[in-house]
Amino acid sequence: MNAYTHVPVLKKEILEYLNIKDGNVYVDCTAGRGGHLEGILQSGAKNITVLAIDKDPSNVAFLKDVFSKYKNVTIINSDYRFLADILKFHGIKKVDGIIFDLGFSSIHIDDASRGFSFAKDGPLDMRYDTNQGLRAEDVINEYPERELGRIIRDYGEEKFFKNISRQIVKAREEKKITTTLQLKDIIHRSIPTRFRAGKKIDAATKTFQAIRIEVNTEFESLKAVLPDAINALNTDGRLCAITFHSIEDRIVKQSVNKAINPCTCPKGLVQCVCGKKPTLKRVIKMPLTASKEEIRLNPRSRSAKLRIAQRI
Ligand SMILES: C[S@@+](CC[C@H](N)C(=O)[O-])C[C@H]1O[C@@H](n2cnc3c(N)ncnc32)[C@H](O)[C@@H]1O
Repeated sequence: MNAYTHVPVLKKEILEYLNIKDGNVYVDCTAGRGGHLEGILQSGAKNITVLAIDKDPSNVAFLKDVFSKYKNVTIINSDYRFLADILKFHGIKKVDGIIFDLGFSSIHIDDASRGFSFAKDGPLDMRYDTNQGLRAEDVINEYPERELGRIIRDYGEEKFFKNISRQIVKAREEKKITTTLQLKDIIHRSIPTRFRAGKKIDAATKTFQAIRIEVNTEFESLKAVLPDAINALNTDGRLCAITFHSIEDRIVKQSVNKAINPCTCPKGLVQCVCGKKPTLKRVIKMPLTASKEEIRLNPRSRSAKLRIAQRI
């Protein structure tokens, strides 16, 4: 077990909007190091049941160690995309609150051996699930140039995607790319100096994000789980999702909006004929963001957006 820590983002807001009540059932789909989970368990509500899911076996080992004293929490090592099966397996029909705190944690970034960070050198790994086969090294060294470019463009919104994928392919023809700093150098060489020098955000950030998303099939999991999560909610149950970048946020927003307004009738029709009824309503209009004070104490929170919706 490693000694790295993770400061939970928007914890106060999550706990407030989750609306924790006696006897209810909650699922933390991205339990990580248990920051939000701890808040739920210490909320004072009686007889609650909590499922805590994480894909990373080392986080799950940590959670089991720290939270085994709570008899009402079940810790599960899985991809959250299997939420419906997990609930069925545990005999749970409906739940009252679901949390998603998406992406990676500080643990993944701070531990160079996990290969998420370009601040220190490490192996090109980037897997949450360390038992899975595909690593960042495989994506970087084996994907065709076009596919690499597509991933860097679509998952990183990186405008220099063509240059970067071309330079990766050129570099790997000479020598296998195996470390995070090797990849960072190639990315920097692919971006004109005026677009990277003196910038607050390192020029390698978007490409690293894209490769991480590909390795962990992040968007596939998120798109698959959201309808199941909405479906699993009891009336008045709440969905709380924290996202950290625009593409992730768009996926959550689109799923929530579709559940709020599922009508597929052509515009201008006097009366709805498709018969599709809303399953969610908005709890707050605009997503919540971290306060200045939280951002000062935990800079990672600066890009966080919390969306909350309630089951009808
Ligand atoms: C931002 S951290 C969550 C931190 C947590 N809320 C806390 O307070 O410690 C995101 C966590 O989600 C996990 N994760 C990422 N994708 C996942 C997936 N598809 N299924 C389950 N867990 C996932 C990561 O391993 C990571 O621990």
